[in-house]
Amino acid sequence: MFKKRIAAVAAGLFACHALSAIAADKQVEVMHWWTSGGEAKALGVLKDNLKQRGYSWKDSPIAGGGGEAARTVLRARIASNNPPDAVQMLGFSVLDYAEQDLLTNLDSIAKKGDWDKQVPAPLQRFSKADGHWYGVPIDVHSDNWIWANKKIFDELKLTPPQTFEELVADADKIRKAGYIPLAHGGQAWQEATIFDSAVMSAGGPKFYNEALIKLDPKALGSKTMEKAFDQLRALRGMVDPNFPGRDWNLATSMVINGKAAMQIMGDWAKGEFASAGKKPGVDFLCMRYPGTQGNFIFVTDQFATFKAGNERQAGQYAFAEAVMDPKVQAQFNQIKGSVPARLDVPADGFDECGQKSMADMRTALKNGTMVGSFAHGQAMPEASKTAVYDVVTHFFNSNQSSGDAVKSLVTAVQNSK
Ligand code: GAL
Repeated sequence: MFKKRIAAVAAGLFACHALSAIAADKQVEVMHWWTSGGEAKALGVLKDNLKQRGYSWKDSPIAGGGGEAARTVLRARIASNNPPDAVQMLGFSVLDYAEQDLLTNLDSIAKKGDWDKQVPAPLQRFSKADGHWYGVPIDVHSDNWIWANKKIFDELKLTPPQTFEELVADADKIRKAGYIPLAHGGQAWQEATIFDSAVMSAGGPKFYNEALIKLDPKALGSKTMEKAFDQLRALRGMVDPNFPGRDWNLATSMVINGKAAMQIMGDWAKGEFASAGKKPGVDFLCMRYPGTQGNFIFVTDQFATFKAGNERQAGQYAFAEAVMDPKVQAQFNQIKGSVPARLDVPADGFDECGQKSMADMRTALKNGTMVGSFAHGQAMPEASKTAVYDVVTHFFNSNQSSGDAVKSLVTAVQNSK
């Protein structure tokens, strides 16, 4: 009897211990750089869904748009053999870490969720290595957008500029009326973001592909590329003197508050308008950067999961399923400003900018012109990207001529290969 009681107590203790061990394990650490108002709100959708699946969220935010700071922290965590369970990644990063055999293979979850069929092929290029799934795409942003303050546009009787020349003329009117034409944040990735649009506008999708994806020296050194730098020079003339170092979301606030008329930025900017309670078509306008109408320069945020023991892997699987849950994809992207990374999510529920983006993506998919963003690491490998960043940001912040910029572009790319 006594023995039995002891055994029962011991069993109870063991159960208790096991329970607390499970509680500790039932947590997924997620590293990301979504710290702005709109970004954080969108992330809440994913957090809630993970909770419903029985896992708590350990938040590891590393502030800094574009993710440069997060990538540095990640490298340090990997070096000390302590990577987070799930990490936000862009472009070639997933493939690089998969090649180093550091990531959890997600094939079984992908099969269950029909990812092969539902995820657009240009995204899969950054999710799969050697035919296996390692990256889970949560969104499809595009960055060839202008976000405009509608009140200023109405007051000055401006309509969305259709050509770059029209944009220049509009900027002139805006400045004369006492507003800053272009809200800009002087950080390398933001200058690179503008450059994406300038290259597309100057040469179209085929040229963009030759130059920024294939890195063809002829395209990189061409007159068309010079025109892209000319656009950048004109845009430099539209910003206020306090632009250096400014965060992207503070630049968005300038448009929201009516200090500035426009911002050229990916559609995560829309998340800031929305989180400030602003409505498209009423308070702000979304328009494609002139000369890029109907084109789609994509930025897809993906999560990769780092190899861990079996218990942690279960959490990673739950996390991957949460990311790809069609309901999460709908709600998350409606808040974030992007469009779903699965093709089976309906367009209703998205605002007019979101619906336009979905339509542009489908057209670009059909025409084979959906191209990855250089600025956000989905056009060229990291080493070349860094080299081109330097050229672009040096040009933007100096008086260099477009001709000289093109020459240093060709050399920089060549040396980076
Ligand atoms: C991008 C990322 C977006 C985003 C932006 C600003 O790199 O793809 O999702 O929110 O940075 O943080």
